[in-house]
Amino acid sequence: MAGELNVDLGERTYKILCGSGLLPVAGSILRNLNLATPCLVVSNATVAGFYWPVLESSLKAGGFNPRLALVPDGEEAKTLQVAASLYDAALAAGIERQAAVIALGGGVVGDVAGFIAATWLRGVPFIQVPTTLLAQVDSSVGGKVAVNHPGGKNLIGAFYQPLAVIADLDTLATLPSREIRAGLAEVIKYGVIADAGFFAYLEEHLEEALAREAGVLENIVLRSCAMKAAVVARDERESGLRAILNFGHTVGHAVEAVTGFTAYRHGEAVAMGMVAAARIAARRGMFSMEETGRLVRLLARAGLPVNLPALDPTAFREALGHDKKIRQGQLRMVLPESLGRVQVISVSIEEVMAQVFEKGFIGS
Ligand code: NAD
Ligand code: GLY
Repeated sequence: MAGELNVDLGERTYKILCGSGLLPVAGSILRNLNLATPCLVVSNATVAGFYWPVLESSLKAGGFNPRLALVPDGEEAKTLQVAASLYDAALAAGIERQAAVIALGGGVVGDVAGFIAATWLRGVPFIQVPTTLLAQVDSSVGGKVAVNHPGGKNLIGAFYQPLAVIADLDTLATLPSREIRAGLAEVIKYGVIADAGFFAYLEEHLEEALAREAGVLENIVLRSCAMKAAVVARDERESGLRAILNFGHTVGHAVEAVTGFTAYRHGEAVAMGMVAAARIAARRGMFSMEETGRLVRLLARAGLPVNLPALDPTAFREALGHDKKIRQGQLRMVLPESLGRVQVISVSIEEVMAQVFEKGFIGS
């Protein structure tokens, strides 16, 4: 039995389905959405190698004539060139206004497939079939779609909500352990920003999550999606509340940028960024040392980095200066007040630099 949630956005409300055994029935789920055939499935060779045969036969059984378009594996798929190749595939497949683009893969596939769905014929139906933990708990929900510009990540994009999210937990069985841990960083983030009880649940069940115990994974994905859905329903375009989802991302993005987006998985960089934010908040006296310790211990148990690597201070300062949320030299940072509660606060680049480059946090 799959869990089911709504992302409440008026006439653009959609369902998140989460559970085991969903891929084989995806075609019959989609049959109820009034979609034209053929449809275009976007994936990469790794994911398609595991899951295209089952999705293909399920879509065929649902009356669709699915066409597969592959993108490169990894962040290099999020470019305008790859998007252009997908427009060619959409044209060749005869994707018309009511025909769906279906993303089968992690956050990379979801972001680029969503970007072309948002722009092909000024927008065609978009379905997310996330296959990484990070994509199931975060990127497939909420409608941020984008490709990268050589000048920065996610600079070319849109808010474009999917028509449905189908998160089959069985796909997590083939995911490398490092990707499970990276996804857990975003899961732990939800505990800090919105739900102390969920944080305590993670403290209790982390090893079961790492061992991919089905019930724990389902609970984690559903509770994470419920939190994200609630935030997105109240602030779809990030005019306020949605910014709390960026906890850990200010320093995390800067770490990703100065390490060339290759050394760390996104979730690993977010883990370091959450520790940095907690340390800044603790230094300000707004977050306790005891709760900082709980966060650091949970991230470390998940096998995530809690210390920063040796970084070049000049490059790091420059990367902070390119943050999308900077206003007159002040970063808008999400800082914890207690586990389950955060505030968005202006913090100077100097204060972040002082904390990040403090002995004991960096270079270990
Ligand atoms: P990813 O999409 O690169 O997937 C990680 C790796 O796992 C890839 O090599 C992929 O081929 C492989 N993989 C995927 N599913 C698999 C499976 N079931 N079995 C085996 N291997 C599998 O990485 P990700 O962490 O899922 O996504 C990161 C991307 O998401 C970044 O580009 C980031 O900017 C974006 N993101 C977007 C949002 C959003 O709201 N749109 C939020 C967070 C992150
Ligand atoms: N991942 C941040 C957001 O969706 O707003």
